[in-house]
Amino acid sequence: MAMEATPTYKDPHQPIEARVQDLLSRMTLAEKIGQMTQIERAVATPSAIRDLAIGSILSGGGSAPTSGASAKDWVDMVDSFQKSALESRLSIPMVYGVDAVHGHNNVVGATIFPHNIGLGATRDADLVQKIAEATAKEVRATGIPYNFAPCVAVCRDPRWGRCFESFSEDCELVRSMTTAVRGLQGTPPEGHPKGYPYLGGRLNVIACAKHYVGDGGTDGGVNEGNTLSSFEHLESVHLRPFLDCLSLHVSTVMASFSSWNGTKLHCNYYLITELLKEELGFKGFVISDWEGIDKILDPPKSDYRYCISASINAGMDMVMVPFLYEEFIKELTSLVESGEIPMARINDAVERILRVKFISGLFEHPFADRSLLQTVGCEAHRKLAREAVRKSLVLLKNGKDPEKPFLPLDKKAKRVLVVGQHANDIGYLCGGWTISWAGSSGRITEGTTILEAIKKTVSEHTEVIYEVDPSPEIFNDSEFSFAIVVVGEEPYVETWGDNSVLDIPLNGAELIRLVGSKVPTLVIMISGRPLVVEQVLDNMEAFVAAWLPGTECDGITDVIFGDYEFHGTLPRTWFKRVDQLPMSVGDSNYDPLFPFGFGLKMNLKKQDTTKQ
Ligand code: GLC
Repeated sequence: MAMEATPTYKDPHQPIEARVQDLLSRMTLAEKIGQMTQIERAVATPSAIRDLAIGSILSGGGSAPTSGASAKDWVDMVDSFQKSALESRLSIPMVYGVDAVHGHNNVVGATIFPHNIGLGATRDADLVQKIAEATAKEVRATGIPYNFAPCVAVCRDPRWGRCFESFSEDCELVRSMTTAVRGLQGTPPEGHPKGYPYLGGRLNVIACAKHYVGDGGTDGGVNEGNTLSSFEHLESVHLRPFLDCLSLHVSTVMASFSSWNGTKLHCNYYLITELLKEELGFKGFVISDWEGIDKILDPPKSDYRYCISASINAGMDMVMVPFLYEEFIKELTSLVESGEIPMARINDAVERILRVKFISGLFEHPFADRSLLQTVGCEAHRKLAREAVRKSLVLLKNGKDPEKPFLPLDKKAKRVLVVGQHANDIGYLCGGWTISWAGSSGRITEGTTILEAIKKTVSEHTEVIYEVDPSPEIFNDSEFSFAIVVVGEEPYVETWGDNSVLDIPLNGAELIRLVGSKVPTLVIMISGRPLVVEQVLDNMEAFVAAWLPGTECDGITDVIFGDYEFHGTLPRTWFKRVDQLPMSVGDSNYDPLFPFGFGLKMNLKKQDTTKQ
């Protein structure tokens, strides 16, 4: 019996589009709808993956194979899902997605880089590309080829709970940071078709520009709220970073939970289909956010059939269901069979999904490259993260008398007081999206806290006293050369981060007042955004914004003790009071405490050891 020739779609030497069309022509409606379905790993069974031809599986924030799972545990899990996918009738590989938004943040032991607001302060596009390259390798080391990053939101109001995920309030600064796409996916050859997805190889991952469009511009900074603006404003402030991502051949785009002038992005035909796909020529796929189609209506899913119909017909290609996938598949199938969703729309969605899968090499290499396992948290990546921390720091005050700068600190000081839980809590220093979705306090992963870095930096004769919450008496018993008070925000994520007060949380202000009234004090702020500090500024000799630095806080002592000069400048306006908000650079009523772009230097005497 003559052997059947290799089907076109299985032949890597065939053109991508020929493979797409060949496979599409072989698929049943059920298989097509399966490919449009993304489910959470917690509900992903071998039979569902195989029998429903599930196109994608994800880890929601913090969803790991087990608590403290190793890279090998991750690889074993992802490969096991893939094995089931390849047992489907047409052996279409599934694509596994994760949020690695400041390193591979779901994985204990992974390198955790500064969150995007800190990277915005570096204004270093090459550094952001290198961080993305490193992140891609650590993601691949766990067998995962798809990262829901970068977030290219332009956060116009720091009351937004996702301010820290945005590089800046300034569109042009955000645009410059889209080099993250190149770092994640690699650089396509000259002439790669406009709007076409790309993936360089097995050290790269499929990227996802999010959240399309205007997530950072909602009224009052309300998460998942309503962006009220002309199209011209939406285009000039929020859309342009997506144009840059498209020019870098980003393979996927994630729709925003938010609305534009009252219409949910998840069912916005004009913005998704007419603008992104037709006018701008995007050829990858558009993915929903988590239960994003459900929220087209309020209350969510109040008419699920309508939610599905409205989003798919608007141009949604893959749906992050992520749990009740049988219901989704049943309703979508019925909508196609009734003609409410044309088959042409389904074919367009599946073509896009298959195109990304073929481009990514998934058909040729569906399983993990286990030689990469040691990449997770490797020394080279931690060194890069330490550099990023250094460059992210912004010096806002240095000495009550400008003629008497307070920094750099003396490594040979006799006795140093370090104050505040943030000084020695790696969970606080990493912020949200770390190990768990919302992040948490405590020794949640491997890294170096500020206190540990201080102890490594000062001389052997220097006494370091650490007090989370010192009593006033401490100052009667001891004399301190100086104090370092580390205060700021506790980890949060998404709506739980929405905040219209923006005071220094916990007892941060009291600590600054107490310690600053007794000892010359450097305050280090650990936060995802500027906070109200005007009332305690006079209590500080020096003030440094460190944002959410991640695991490599040696980068902070590198600078405050003078081995490196400050580099960072404010990526967003430091307001005086919340009643000024929203207030961004260029506004007519611009009256900041510290303006966008502000940042001091220590003006270190030129020494051999001083590096930029
Ligand atoms: C979240 C976020 C999105 C993330 C997705 C998957 O709700 O909005 O940024 O990629 O769900 O975790």
